[in-house]
Amino acid sequence: MQQQISPATSVSGAIQLPGDKSISHRYAMLAGIAEGPTKISNYSTGADCQSTLACVRALGAATETKDGVVCIHGQGLNGLRQPAAALDAGNSGSTIRMLSGILAAQRFVSTIGGDESLSRRPMQRIMTPLAQMGARIEARENRFPPLTIHGGPLHPVEYTLPVASAQVKSCVLIAGLFADGRTTVHEPVRTRDHTELALREFGADVEVDRLSITVTGHPKLEGRELRVPGDLSSAAFFLVAALIVPEASLTIHGVGLNPTRSALLDFLAEMGAQIKILDVSSTGGELVGDVLIRKSRGSGVRGGVLEKARTAALIDEIPVLAILGAASEEGLIVRDASELRVKETDRIATIAENFRRMGLKIELHQDGFEVPGRQQFHAAEVDSFGDHRIAMAFSVAALAADGPCSILGADAASVSFPEFFDTLQRVAE
Ligand code: S3P
Repeated sequence: MQQQISPATSVSGAIQLPGDKSISHRYAMLAGIAEGPTKISNYSTGADCQSTLACVRALGAATETKDGVVCIHGQGLNGLRQPAAALDAGNSGSTIRMLSGILAAQRFVSTIGGDESLSRRPMQRIMTPLAQMGARIEARENRFPPLTIHGGPLHPVEYTLPVASAQVKSCVLIAGLFADGRTTVHEPVRTRDHTELALREFGADVEVDRLSITVTGHPKLEGRELRVPGDLSSAAFFLVAALIVPEASLTIHGVGLNPTRSALLDFLAEMGAQIKILDVSSTGGELVGDVLIRKSRGSGVRGGVLEKARTAALIDEIPVLAILGAASEEGLIVRDASELRVKETDRIATIAENFRRMGLKIELHQDGFEVPGRQQFHAAEVDSFGDHRIAMAFSVAALAADGPCSILGADAASVSFPEFFDTLQRVAE
């Protein structure tokens, strides 16, 4: 699908976003191994989270969706059954990496794979700790999907993550639910803690001591009612849209504000963005609130530097922040971001190619890039390269271009946000 986007002079109105992708995955997987039904409202509508639901169903936990509420009939820690065919994680790294923690503990053999992009993403990062726990996993070239997982009884481990990754942390903690004893993960920097919060909601014993997280095996997990906050990573596209057009006044209702995710709001505020947070409450241990952003004609954001822990905290937002950097006063420097190379696409390369097409300057490094500020965005045909965040980031860039742009492969957005283009059309004029 090709999408045309015309330049805009304002972004305004009030919107609500689909449920957070990270939280939706976790709720669905834990619901599958909990006792009894779990009802999840505002579950992500994105294809990735539908892949997780399909896998959970194939493992024997029935699911149904009624009036927008997803109900999952949990089978308990020991109640899953061998799927009839290979599990399909689609485009979703979260699905394959976190679900492998469950599959590693099953008494059956299972295979899980995905699309072409997923088939190129590194899996040793979960294979190593799961092997230490006792699982045997075969992979294409020993590191790529599909994975064939020979599950069995697991023993607890103490594992230090070599790279900051919430998916790997979660995989090990979830596998730890099936181990006899206490499993500990040490993180190099704090990553999103949705798994820890969700595990507690379902009744597991989770201890957090700075960068070390411990889970106790064989908890009684109980099905429950949960609501997924709006996805802050999806909100990022609208916040940047508001900051690169001449005028904006936008309210985003019910956004997840978990402190391990909200570095985005602090970074934008430091750059000079006018952001207000209202009506903060908590659901399932997750903070949620309304985010208001305003911009007046002639004002701009300064620019900034992303490095170290902050890069890790903002890794999904970097494509759209690159665009903000090009529109800012002083530009954006991104360091310590080699993980961008192994996302749905090599995002350093796909950002660079679309920058080139829009006539924007960018200097590349192996682990980041530098974008000068005050650049003029030119009308162009850009490409998602099949990556949802690249599709949405460059649709936002198109709002500030000097003519209409085409986004090739725009349908990739539906991996996390099928309503993206409708929502953008409602607020951008
Ligand atoms: C995610 C963790 C991050 C992030 C991804 C979702 C999660 O990946 O980029 O979009 O839900 O845990 P890594 O664990 O590879 O850093």
